[in-house]
Amino acid sequence: MTHVTPAQKQAAQPLGTPGGSGKALYGGVTTRRVTVRDIAAAKARGEKWPMLTAYDALTASVFDEAGIPVMLVGDSMGNCHLGYETTVPVTMDEIALLSAAVVRGTKRALIVGDLPFGSYQEGPVQALRNATRLVKEAGVGAVKLEGGERSADQIDLLVRSGIPVMAHVGLTPQSVNAYGGYPVQGRGEEAAAQLLRDAKAVQDAGAFAVVLEVVPAELAAEVTRSLHIPTVGIGAGPDCDAQVLVWTDMAGMTGGRVPKFVKQYVDLRRALGDAARAFADEVVGGAYPTAEHSFH
Ligand code: KIV
Repeated sequence: MTHVTPAQKQAAQPLGTPGGSGKALYGGVTTRRVTVRDIAAAKARGEKWPMLTAYDALTASVFDEAGIPVMLVGDSMGNCHLGYETTVPVTMDEIALLSAAVVRGTKRALIVGDLPFGSYQEGPVQALRNATRLVKEAGVGAVKLEGGERSADQIDLLVRSGIPVMAHVGLTPQSVNAYGGYPVQGRGEEAAAQLLRDAKAVQDAGAFAVVLEVVPAELAAEVTRSLHIPTVGIGAGPDCDAQVLVWTDMAGMTGGRVPKFVKQYVDLRRALGDAARAFADEVVGGAYPTAEHSFH
């Protein structure tokens, strides 16, 4: 890891220092954007909080009005919004464009922009260049990147440069080609110990939160107890500090098979399909538009 002087550590500290408004993240802070200080304070209070992905201004505005305190403009936009098969092809231009839209559509949530595959693996300087772009061009309040020990140097430089970082360990979908699929992570003693090392490495590097994706619930609980930064679970059981879902999964838009950990709260795909068919039937049958929808 890059050497950090005490002064640099001190400068980085306010990002993760408990403080905030003392109000709940969900349903509490309403007059300004949620910050990483509010998130640190929620961990200190033992408060659980929700996070959803968002990829456009309109959907994000709905979640903002619903009180979702943190939104991730995830590279899951690849398979859930842009029609790619995986997250791997997603580019910085795509993330920057959609992050800016989500920021414009929201007033209150902390917006986290994802660093896509290939935008930070070369090293800390590349990570800083691309994270800076998301903060300056899109207006995000934080960035996320995948990897534990292997990404600690990148996290360290971003945090020292004033950019809050959400880390992501366990299943890291950008490595799909190396995994050959999306297997559960952290199974077995050695893998569990590595996951714990990864989580501690990103905390030590200055991350303000860490996503734990598809790991056994018992291990996620242990990681959550061991860290002073919040864990954000996705397929990681009930004991994480926060939970995140891809919005198109939780709203039933995705279609086809969704992972076991997804709970579908509404069947939006069916509702939208029904609405489209009703519109089409009325146009074809002459029932729409009527005088009510016409200008005279
Ligand atoms: O890209 C994404 O949506 C994510 C979440 C699943 C955490 O990384």
